[in-house]
This record gives sequence, C-alpha cells and structure tokens, in this order.
Amino acid sequence: MSEQLSSAPDISRTVKKWLKKRGSLIMALHEIQNTFGYVPRSVSLQLAHLMDVPLARIYEVLTFYNYFRLDPPGKNTISVCMGTACYLKGAPKLVEAFAEELGVQEGETTPDGQFFLQSVRCVGCCGLAPVVVVNGTVMSKVDVSQVKEIIASCMQKEEV
Ligand code: FES
Repeated sequence: MSEQLSSAPDISRTVKKWLKKRGSLIMALHEIQNTFGYVPRSVSLQLAHLMDVPLARIYEVLTFYNYFRLDPPGKNTISVCMGTACYLKGAPKLVEAFAEELGVQEGETTPDGQFFLQSVRCVGCCGLAPVVVVNGTVMSKVDVSQVKEIIASCMQKEEV
C-alpha cells in the first residue's frame, strides 16, 4: 500500500506562490478548490492563519462566488495529479482505471454521490509521483493495481 503523507493537506506551497500577488486570496482559493474539489473548512482555517486574513473574510469570498464549493461534490473525492511528473509516471492510466472502476468520467460524481473523480494540476510532491489525493490525504507512487483497494478502503470507512 502506498504511503499516506498526512491527513491535513499542506497548503504552504500554495500560499507562498500567491501571497504577494494581486488578488492573492482568491487565487489561492481557486488553487485549493482545483486540488480538493472544494474548499475544506480545515484548509480555510490554515489559509487564514498563513495569509493573516480573518476567517470571516475568506468565507465572504467563498460565499460570494458561485464557483466555490464548501462541501465535497461527492462523499469521497479522488484527485489524480496530472502534473508533468505524475503524467510521465502513469497518471493518465490511473484516471482511466478510477473512471472505469467507478463508472464515471473525470470531473463527475457517481450517481449514488459516493465518489467524485477529478484530475488536478501538480500538488507539489513530484518526487512521489504518481500522486493521488484521496479525501485530502496524499498517496504516493500509486499503481493501477491499487485502484480497487483505494475505493474499497473509502467504502469501509463509510461503514465504520
Ligand atoms: S506533478 Fe504530480 S505532484 Fe507534481
């Protein structure tokens, strides 16, 4: 089984990238949503701290624009990194395998609302490619043979 790096996503790289730019808060929020499929509250709290912005200001932005989601588009969000390193190490095959196993296309939620599958740009740990982020947990060096296992473990957590 691949290594789980952390259950709390590290957004310091995103913050560093946008901090001194114009519209930094909104750009950081865009990147976060693109990575996770929505903006988790735990990430908003981190962002408020790292950018020194009141949490209320972040929620003002999040609720003003329809684009942002505060809840996951499926109970489980599977994000396959399609950045260059992951792409070269087989990410397209992972997207295909998840899509086939779940019976959806990339960018769709399963009819039962259990899984949302998306491809995302580089999540910042290219040395661990190919990377899949499952409900905010980064999984490294994922192989197609693990796809069923990853889906099953999400379902098991559901049952507990
Ligand atoms: S390309 Fe996938 S983590 Fe950078």
